[in-house]
Amino acid sequence: MKVAATTMILLACAGALGACGSQGIQVATTSPYHHGAVLFRDHCSGCHTLSVVGAQGSATSIGNRIKQNGPNFNIRKENVEQALYAIRNGGFSGAIMPQNIVVGREAAAVASFLEKYSGRQAQKVPSTNITLSTK
Ligand code: HEC
Repeated sequence: MKVAATTMILLACAGALGACGSQGIQVATTSPYHHGAVLFRDHCSGCHTLSVVGAQGSATSIGNRIKQNGPNFNIRKENVEQALYAIRNGGFSGAIMPQNIVVGREAAAVASFLEKYSGRQAQKVPSTNITLSTK
């Protein structure tokens, strides 16, 4: 009886954890970016915001900002080179973000995921087409 009860509890826990594991990630499991999304959620979401993985680590206002809050990637666009530079050096300044949280293939997966999904809510700067006169 006791064994059955313990088993039930363990199964319930496993179910709950399983649900947690995929929570908030909106990148399809079949997508080539899914692995990078999971790595980002696991290693970067504490300090950066990115809604496609449910990450909310950036500051929400100047008033509640702490120095560990990194840039919000819903707004800031990064490419692979920038992401890899930041991962290897600990952000752009090297002062706050830890270096090499992910390395090798995992770093590459996070970087390509970030290039694909960052900056999607960036504001478009209005532009005017200018035709240059050629004299
Ligand atoms: C402990 C908090 C913390 C963690 C964890 C963290 N970062 Fe950062 N990150 C920061 C801070 C703070 C900055 C801004 C300061 C700087 O660039 O040195 C930053 C900057 C960056 C930048 C440069 C952004 C720009 O345009 O200025 C990138 C790219 C970046 N992080 C990616 C990542 C990735 C990818 C991960 C996970 C592998 C990660 N960060 C994990 C705190 C963190």
